[in-house]
Amino acid sequence: MEPYRIKVVEPIPLTTPQQREEALRRVSYNLFDLRADEVTIDLLSDSGTGAISAAQLSAGMNGDESYAGSRSFYRWRETVSELTGYPHLLPAHQGRAAERILFTSLLTPGSTVVSNTHFDTTRANVELVGCQARDIPCPEAKDLDSPHRFKGNIDLKALEQILQNQQESPVAAVVMTITNNGGGGQPVSMENLHRTADLCRRHSVPMILDAARFAENAWLVTRHEPGYQDRTPRQVAEEAFRLADGCIMSAKKDGIVHIGGFIGLKDPELAQKCERLLIATEGFATYGGLAGRDLDMMAQGLLEVTEPSYLAERADIAGHLAQRIRDAGVDIVEPAGLHALYLNAGRLLPHIPPHQYPGHSLACQLYLRGGIRSAELGSLYLGEEDEHGNPIKSAPYELVRLALPRRVYTRSHYDHVAATLASIAKDPSSVHGYRITDQSPILRHFSIKLAPA
Ligand code: F0G
Repeated sequence: MEPYRIKVVEPIPLTTPQQREEALRRVSYNLFDLRADEVTIDLLSDSGTGAISAAQLSAGMNGDESYAGSRSFYRWRETVSELTGYPHLLPAHQGRAAERILFTSLLTPGSTVVSNTHFDTTRANVELVGCQARDIPCPEAKDLDSPHRFKGNIDLKALEQILQNQQESPVAAVVMTITNNGGGGQPVSMENLHRTADLCRRHSVPMILDAARFAENAWLVTRHEPGYQDRTPRQVAEEAFRLADGCIMSAKKDGIVHIGGFIGLKDPELAQKCERLLIATEGFATYGGLAGRDLDMMAQGLLEVTEPSYLAERADIAGHLAQRIRDAGVDIVEPAGLHALYLNAGRLLPHIPPHQYPGHSLACQLYLRGGIRSAELGSLYLGEEDEHGNPIKSAPYELVRLALPRRVYTRSHYDHVAATLASIAKDPSSVHGYRITDQSPILRHFSIKLAPA
């Protein structure tokens, strides 16, 4: 059961099918353009969407808003340094700010960054400084149905080969994303992290954690990795941070705050370079673009997030929804993770070709029938067409992500999601595809316009 009770509530918008149809038509079938008050259950992202605790709110009230050297900063630094062990800690306003500052300071144009899978902003920030982002997920990740427990792992053989053949493009960093959001929210094993760290050390390449969901990764390690069953999630997280040379963190996930992030580093010179850029572009080194209250709330969130009772319930509610979805006859990327479930829309809607966007079609149905907002991860997001609209590239899988905000929705909300999916799965052939009517050349899914095909 939930290890908390509800003290403050917020009404959720209840809409009619007709209102939803009109809203979707108005935004040209782009769910990003809906007003949030047209959405009943918002599963677009688990980022910055969590519920803060009474302890976080009260920590925030104690925030010190001094421009420099605030008490909040020192309290935050103590907590984060106990968790991570990094001697150099820089706050930033969110994950991508940390990415930009670290990559601008660490990378030289022409080099390569290797990862189990870069998150899309992480990739963008590598490419923005003239470098190449290479993803080498483990082979098991390719089989969406495989119950393999650590499908977030990096392919160690491929990594070793890349590190041994750096003549063309030197490897400037290895980024381990825990959990692997771009790869279905799958965890990385401690064994894989240890072996990656060894390879990196042998080749003098820094290993950086993208630690947005470090606590959820640690929870899955304590559940499923031999040798870790007697450890607490906190102990596993502490070990993971210490294996790496540094981290970038979006605290909007496992910091359970609405805004915030940080960079952690062992190398003092690199930290100094980052600090200069931070001061020029985010804010002074003791606030990094955040208010004092944000730092205090983040510190408290980072303590709460490794509580076993919190993580057990988060896994349980995700498992509950996953089972109801399977029971409804809809396949998900297995095994179910904690922060999101990924629906296999391609398999549910085989009559819709990739370039009529089965994932998007399913996401629109979830909205039309249940007021549920989700995110397509398929050919709308990753595909390409020529100027006449003919397909050039489609995504390897047509998925829809249901991201689960932390401590926000209850089992009955998720039962509504499962029931809506069950109604779609009863007659999938009635679902139609979409065609693009207008798009931008980069990150098209945010601003795209569509019409029924
Ligand atoms: N790294 C990972 C693994 C992420 O999932 C995200 C954000 C970021 C970095 C960037 O952090 O948003 O604070 O700038 N993921 C969100 C999501 C947006 O919905 O998955 P940010």
